[in-house]
Amino acid sequence: ITLKVNKPQAAVQPTMWGIFFEDINFSADGGIYAELVKNRSFEFTDPLMGWKETGKEGAGRILIVNQGSEHAANPRYAHVTVQAGDSIYGLFNEGFRGMGFKKDLRYNFSFRAGNTTGNPALKLVLLDEKGEHIGEVAIPPTGKEWKQYTASVTASRTVAKGGLQLQFSGNGSLDIDMISLFPEDTWKQRPGGLRSDLVQKLADLHPGFVRFPGGCIVEGRDLANRYQWKKTVGKVEDRTLIVNRWNTEFANRAPGDYFQSYGLGFYEYFLLSEDIGASPLPILNCGMACQFNTGEVAADEDVAVYIQDALDLIEFANGGTDTKWGHLRAEMGHPKPFNLQMMGVGNEQWDSQYVARYQRFEQELKSKHPEIKLVSSVGPFSSGKQFEYLWSKLRTSKADLVDEHYYMPPEWFLKNTTRYDKYDRNGPKIFAGEYAAHIRVAKENDSEQGETRNTWESALAEAAFMTGLERNADIVQMCSYAPLLAHVEAWQWRPDLIWFDNLRSVGTPNYYVQLLFANNKGTHTIPVTLNDQPLTGKDSIYASATIDQQAHKILVKIVNASGKAMNYKLALDGAVTTKDATTQQVLTAKNKGDFNTLDNPSVVKPVELQLKPAKNNVDVVVKANSLNVITIPY
Ligand code: AHR
Repeated sequence: ITLKVNKPQAAVQPTMWGIFFEDINFSADGGIYAELVKNRSFEFTDPLMGWKETGKEGAGRILIVNQGSEHAANPRYAHVTVQAGDSIYGLFNEGFRGMGFKKDLRYNFSFRAGNTTGNPALKLVLLDEKGEHIGEVAIPPTGKEWKQYTASVTASRTVAKGGLQLQFSGNGSLDIDMISLFPEDTWKQRPGGLRSDLVQKLADLHPGFVRFPGGCIVEGRDLANRYQWKKTVGKVEDRTLIVNRWNTEFANRAPGDYFQSYGLGFYEYFLLSEDIGASPLPILNCGMACQFNTGEVAADEDVAVYIQDALDLIEFANGGTDTKWGHLRAEMGHPKPFNLQMMGVGNEQWDSQYVARYQRFEQELKSKHPEIKLVSSVGPFSSGKQFEYLWSKLRTSKADLVDEHYYMPPEWFLKNTTRYDKYDRNGPKIFAGEYAAHIRVAKENDSEQGETRNTWESALAEAAFMTGLERNADIVQMCSYAPLLAHVEAWQWRPDLIWFDNLRSVGTPNYYVQLLFANNKGTHTIPVTLNDQPLTGKDSIYASATIDQQAHKILVKIVNASGKAMNYKLALDGAVTTKDATTQQVLTAKNKGDFNTLDNPSVVKPVELQLKPAKNNVDVVVKANSLNVITIPY
């Protein structure tokens, strides 16, 4: 295999390998957003969902008050009457799928309360699965004024599926709202922040960008329930909860309790992107709801509102602190701009209406903010004619990038490694914004609807395809696997990149494929050939290569999708090796059907080998069914 080190081709964009975050599979509430209390402000459609009254009959009662005229964003609170005396009236919160507690970790509890009469006492208790106490703290509310109460409590044991109980005693009444419990070990120890194990897994990918907040949830099941970024910023208690578009999908796993509290809102997404060194890529609704649901569209004359949202978002991210939205950003703790450079218009909209909408956005945004790159969308590849139609219309637009989605079988990925070799170099660049190899094994009455697991077979096919993305880095400038996160007990879509429960998380084989490519990106592609031909699938071998011009490294990716090991000599054309470590990272599995689980997280994981290079060549063994990243300092 020849590596033409002295023939650098395209620059690999810093944004090449990124992540796609959507609040699906309990990715946000119940997932990366570390809040443990479900329905903390009684705003779910059923206001007591997630809550249960406990204690002696007649010891107390709860009434939900709707104060919409005063507080439209978060109208409900609970009025609790306590007649418990020395006994207890309890309110139990079950958490998202239980609450995970870690031994010796502190948990920060808070609530807002007011209108206290009499002498109600309140104790917060952390419970294990059996209802045993593993931590408690007293925090008596007082006075008429609404105020914020805080306390912390340390868990005495690790519990995977605990709960929280508010224990009222004494006699009296109070109003209570925003009942919240966070672990102290959030990412960067931010109060009210994100789960650090999950953010760490994202940070380890060194993603070039974070696309947020979706996906279909950008569109919403209808326009009233679309994602409106303005309702997700400012004080947490002023953000308006909505039902998640994934709440009733896929009947067997319909949780019914899937809402968006927006504790993870646009400010937090920008901060997350900044924390992990990624460019933010917000996707905005263009006046069209999800075509898989109602497909509701805004009237033409109302589209201006949606465009204004986009303009205001640019001000929120980049505007001076003397502007309305820049001021809010500063008030929230980030006076410095977030350096927004790109924005997506719509997600998977499928017809001529989208083209017209996109063009209106393009006209306004390009004239007012030519510095912002625009991402347009052609939706899922599987939509066939719609995909082609949208491409035919958008090819001549000023979109900087076009977002293509493909959820296809592994064979498709293997066959399509040359897909972008043929693409027009004069049109928009490509954002492979959602992809994953799906192995559908649909059986009748299959409760999992035939959706595939994250097996090594799927990951290997993606790796082969990604060599094609990398070889075409002149036109393919951004790529992200989808979806990103899934709770093992609350998912609607499979496969996903990272799985988690209340305490643990695990990277899939697909995650390690992403990690190997993203952490070995390089700055420029170089030709990699066998007998003067690119390696695009002959004998099931796929390869791409880059160099890092700053670090003086050659980074070769070889995928062997055959059942036979191969020996290669990698010959350097125009460079010689150095004494620095030459390595081969190998990702493979015993069986194509292998996958990682929370209990067995390392079934498919990269291992690193040291290689012995000669002056201008390196011998490598490429195992059957493996992805290999060979790093050669020069
Ligand atoms: O990633 C899951 C869904 O797939 C996304 O929400 C949508 O864009 C696509 O259909």
